[in-house]
Amino acid sequence: MKNTVVIGAQWGDEGKAKITDLLSQNADLIIRYQGGCNAGHTVVANGQTYKFHLIPSGILYDKTTCFIGAGTVIHPESFEKELNELKNQGVDFKNLKISPLATITMPYHIEVDGWSEANSGKGKIGTTKRGIGPTYTDKMARCAFKIQDLYSYEALNAKIEMMLSLKNKTLEKVYGLEPYTKDCIISLCETYAELFKPYVCFEWQDMLNRFKDKTILFEGAQGVMLDIDYGTYPFVTSSNPIGGGAATGSGYGPTMIQDVIGVSKAYVTRVGEGPFVTELTDEIGKKIQEVGHEFGVTTGRPRRCGWFDAVTMKYAVLVGGVTHVALTKMDVFDDFDEIKICTAYKDCRNDKFYTLYPTDVFIHKYLEPVYETLPGWKTSISGIKRYEDLPENAKKYIARVEDLIGAPISILSVGPDREQTIFIS
Ligand code: GDP
Ligand code: IMO
Ligand code: MG
Repeated sequence: MKNTVVIGAQWGDEGKAKITDLLSQNADLIIRYQGGCNAGHTVVANGQTYKFHLIPSGILYDKTTCFIGAGTVIHPESFEKELNELKNQGVDFKNLKISPLATITMPYHIEVDGWSEANSGKGKIGTTKRGIGPTYTDKMARCAFKIQDLYSYEALNAKIEMMLSLKNKTLEKVYGLEPYTKDCIISLCETYAELFKPYVCFEWQDMLNRFKDKTILFEGAQGVMLDIDYGTYPFVTSSNPIGGGAATGSGYGPTMIQDVIGVSKAYVTRVGEGPFVTELTDEIGKKIQEVGHEFGVTTGRPRRCGWFDAVTMKYAVLVGGVTHVALTKMDVFDDFDEIKICTAYKDCRNDKFYTLYPTDVFIHKYLEPVYETLPGWKTSISGIKRYEDLPENAKKYIARVEDLIGAPISILSVGPDREQTIFIS
């Protein structure tokens, strides 16, 4: 296997973890490069369901090293909870490493996220309330704590000196929240230092050098349409889930990446607010939600559902740097008489057609999807192992999607289990 990045090509929850887990068996090092515990990643294997948020899905393999990279944000309490839940399922963490350069989500980041969601009215993003935006805001404003600060008296004190007074003013005056004392921050950091100690990899440069000739898998969270630069801004997350994010968040540069697998469902889902041109608010949308069990792993929120959107997918292929596509949840359509694909948008104000994704999301409310209808296959495909054995109508669907998005589909997922996968050569 070449060095590969796995990214979500839609609005998250495409089934990335299943694909990462599958590819992990051929990888020596897995790096999670952005996001935090806003992610909810499900792997079904060995008769068990594992739920990951920050810990790389590759942890299920004994021989792979799993590295949480500098581009991530880590909420200590959530990390501990995830660790304990997975430990109870028998998962071993001897191969888990954390970058000293990862950023810490502090309790006030969670408070601010919650406050902003509650007080934004129409400007609400529908975040996971995991403090993601406020943590990345502080990182960019150069007043965040990094994991390495927990082990340096000098750094911790200097940072507290630099940020606490302004942070408290903002917490009190803007948000009406309680201020933090220096002692409180230090006490929190002491607890965090103990928690992360077994995993922090201060020799990460050595480690990355050693793995340079091995196989590396970069694990993305969220999806291209939630990317801070290229997604449906402002209804996005605060990091770069595109393939390029792996080059900044992992510790390796772009020359280490050969393939980018864009994971996409055979339809579209979205959690939270924001435009969604092919959204179905009718019985069909409800059917997709029920058959596909479309409820969030992290927040339990129902996911909005709609038909496959070739306009956004073609865009995701471009800006995500996608070389291959993994198409998931094909089996959800087993019982559908017909399946629609959105091939263009029509602006109902002036009859203008878009086949390239319009990045001004404030016009999306005027856009109507233009659909092409394909016949369903009306039989269960979840036990099929070879492409040749798929029903003709399923093959036609795959070929049409490939045609419209301009990228080959190399992996087909027909069920949640590791085994329910078809590789197309
Ligand atoms: P991720 O965030 O991209 O890793 O995806 P999630 O884990 O949030 O959501 C994907 C859901 O779909 C999980 O419950 C998976 O177990 C499930 N899943 C993945 N691939 C398939 C598939 O091909 N068919 C079906 N029916 N479920 C799948
Ligand atoms: P995985 O990795 C789906 C969405 C939230 C919200 C927006 C901003 O499982 O695909 P945030 O908490 O990041 O500030 O929320 O992004 N969101 C996700 N949607 N899957 C995810 O992760 C998501 N992570 C964030 O619902 O709309
Ligand atoms: Mg998810």
